[in-house]
Amino acid sequence: LRRVQSLPKGFVWGGATAAYQVEGATKVDGKGKTMWDDYLKAQGRFSPDPASDFYHLYPEDIELAKLYGLNAIRVSIAWTRIFPKGYGEPNPAGVAYYHRLFKCCLDNGITPYVSLHHFDSPKTLFDDGDWLNRKNIDYFVDYADFCFKEFSEVKNWFTINELISLAFSQYIQGNFPPNHHFDVTSGIQAQHNELLAHARAVNLFKEKGYQGRIGLIHVLQPVYPYPDTPANEHAAALEDAFMNRFLLDGTFKGEYTPETMALINELLEANDAKLKIEPGDMDILKKASTQNDYFGMNYYQPSFVAAYEGESTNSFNGTGEKGTSSFKFQGVGQHVKKPGVPTTDWDWNIYPAGMYDMLKRVAREYPNSKTIYITENGLGYKDKYEGIGQLIDDDKRIDFIDQHVEALLKARSEGVDVQGYFVWSLQDQFSWANGYNKRYGLFYVNFETQAREIKKSALWFKELGQTLKN
Ligand code: BG6
Repeated sequence: LRRVQSLPKGFVWGGATAAYQVEGATKVDGKGKTMWDDYLKAQGRFSPDPASDFYHLYPEDIELAKLYGLNAIRVSIAWTRIFPKGYGEPNPAGVAYYHRLFKCCLDNGITPYVSLHHFDSPKTLFDDGDWLNRKNIDYFVDYADFCFKEFSEVKNWFTINELISLAFSQYIQGNFPPNHHFDVTSGIQAQHNELLAHARAVNLFKEKGYQGRIGLIHVLQPVYPYPDTPANEHAAALEDAFMNRFLLDGTFKGEYTPETMALINELLEANDAKLKIEPGDMDILKKASTQNDYFGMNYYQPSFVAAYEGESTNSFNGTGEKGTSSFKFQGVGQHVKKPGVPTTDWDWNIYPAGMYDMLKRVAREYPNSKTIYITENGLGYKDKYEGIGQLIDDDKRIDFIDQHVEALLKARSEGVDVQGYFVWSLQDQFSWANGYNKRYGLFYVNFETQAREIKKSALWFKELGQTLKN
């Protein structure tokens, strides 16, 4: 039974993608290597080629988006298609590709929302320290400036996607290159440096008077104590500071408040870690904090946390085998299961109320976030192929999306300025640390033939999209 009956007038109703996860064609038209190419090859688990071959099949996917009622798409530009080494001379073939892609979107009435960085750092810069190297920030700002000027047809920009996921997956969880585990100094420094890169790009966008809107994307993961005891509440506050609050403060307050820093310092001390803030950094963040035009919020799941005294350990469920993940963070807390909260095959909690809680919190505590878009939300699932032309039954995904859109509309009805929803993902795509069996798409991709099939969730999406026309 559908909970959501209609969408508000003017609502942005989109599907999300990311360059490296959909494009394939990693060695085509002068593209440079990202931090993933050699890493994935050495691992030998899965190849980023051809992914969903969006590099060649984008007209088909955009046509599908239009047919199924969407009015927007999230895409990212691969930095290494524009600057193969991350800097230097632009690559004309890469530039031409994105002009073709944006034109196709606009011709079909699908508004592109474009990120400049979605987990795909250029290999050359990654080898030099990636976001831990402050020179990287200069290169990013140059690349951003080039894109703002060149792609004037784009009116909706995001600088970086999910700053925490990079910092956390690279340096804490260790499932992104360079695979560091609980390197807390790098994990916090990367967050600060990414914020600086974002802030400098926003300040430049405004100074140069580029037309359009700009913001960034955070994935917000509410942290609830379980069971609710004072010790667990403190553990939850510590994890929340590291996962959400430090970045939200830096983005929308332009400062890390004393309350936030007290938590961060406690966590750093427990792990013998340090954060380095250079003179002038906070002025840059302050200036940008009121200049974001909007905020992209990704939401998948919360964590339930209990206090924990032992050493850090962690196991990542990358295969979809229920019950194989664990996370214990020294001096911070450990993830626990809350009875009654369902989980996906990858052990992600299914908890729509977390989206509602976070929307309310951001609106209340961070008014500079202004308009909010849910820029990702969706269910990773092992969809079953039924044969050519056969509808794929993904009722579970419909239920998931329906409950989350309902939570969004509830927050909206209570005054939160949330203006859009992008499902992750438009079509099935390559998942960084999980490969190809973790599917999220409205459209099924047969990764052998690249044929697209329709899932029931696409029909659901279309029906709701129709309500925008009434
Ligand atoms: C978000 C990312 O973190 O979650 C996407 O922006 C990612 O790139 C998505 O694919 C789902 O995560 P996963 O690990 O299930 O692919």
